[in-house]
Amino acid sequence: MKADRFDARAVYQKDLFREKRVLITGGGSGIGRLVADGFAQLGANLVLAARKLDRLESARDELLGDYGIQVTCLQCDIADPKQVQQMVAGAFAAGEVHVLVNNAGANSLRPTEALTPVRWKAIIDTVLSGTYYVTREVCRRWIRTGYAGRVINMASTTGWTGSPYMAPSGAAKAGIINLGRTLGSEWGRHGIRINDVSPGPVFTKGSFERLWLNEDVIDLIQKRVPLGRFPGPEDIVGSVLFLASPAADFITGASIAVDGGESLKQSFGELVEKFRPRRATQDETESRPDL
Ligand SMILES: NC(=O)c1ccc[n+]([C@@H]2O[C@H](COP(=O)([O-])OP(=O)(O)OC[C@H]3O[C@@H](n4cnc5c(N)ncnc54)[C@H](OP(=O)(O)O)[C@@H]3O)[C@@H](O)[C@H]2O)c1
Repeated sequence: MKADRFDARAVYQKDLFREKRVLITGGGSGIGRLVADGFAQLGANLVLAARKLDRLESARDELLGDYGIQVTCLQCDIADPKQVQQMVAGAFAAGEVHVLVNNAGANSLRPTEALTPVRWKAIIDTVLSGTYYVTREVCRRWIRTGYAGRVINMASTTGWTGSPYMAPSGAAKAGIINLGRTLGSEWGRHGIRINDVSPGPVFTKGSFERLWLNEDVIDLIQKRVPLGRFPGPEDIVGSVLFLASPAADFITGASIAVDGGESLKQSFGELVEKFRPRRATQDETESRPDL
């Protein structure tokens, strides 16, 4: 594949997910595509689900060429519970599903006063309700059979911080984070672990076209990231693999921010340096400071 991939085998045991099947929604593009690549490197078989079947099939062809694993592609609009029922039945028809990655999402930039109810509903239906529909269909099977599966939701730091012009997506991501906490508690007795990865801004074709729109914005965002760069989808993969691995056996209902520190509060220190430079830079002595 063309995009930089996360070198999963440099971090994780190469057979970590052999004999496992991972269902990834939105697995044909962006972050989901790279997550698929990470699991495939570690031997997992995959089920990829999204609306555009041709894109899933190209991903499947590349993954088969690269790793020779099994890949099933299923067309599904996750906002439609009936389609989700059929898709999840199709996923389990390929064999037991062991890990679910709810990665599919939708977003757009709109001043909230100009947002139409139709657009609000479309985003909430996909991001929040769609995540719930897929989770419910998969987990009720696990509860029935006693399989202790893993769910990893692709949330967002906007779900914690809010983000102007992204009201429905931010609200839906907050909902996903809360849903993970609720279900982590409710389904712990079934051994089901449900956690989320919350990326900050990530450069994908989808996010560039919908959100960042030009290179100047990328540059501005990069300056706000304490770790100093604008990440690509490959930066998100390791955390998803971790949450699916036995290393995360005792973690449920948790959120991991994968944002290079972007969502942390801007430090007062920067203001001090700007407006009181002598005090901020003066050397500390060993004597008790006058506070
Ligand atoms: N990029 C970022 O800055 C960023 C930051 C935080 C969180 N995230 C989250 O990361 C996830 C992936 O985003 P991305 O940047 O990789 O964008 P992307 O490439 O556009 O991925 C979105 C995926 O979701 C699928 N999808 C959208 N609506 C769907 C629906 N109704 N039913 C089924 N599948 C649907 C799309 O496939 P189809 O169009 O074929 O359906 C696509 O594969 C999203 O949940 C996003 O909110 C991204």
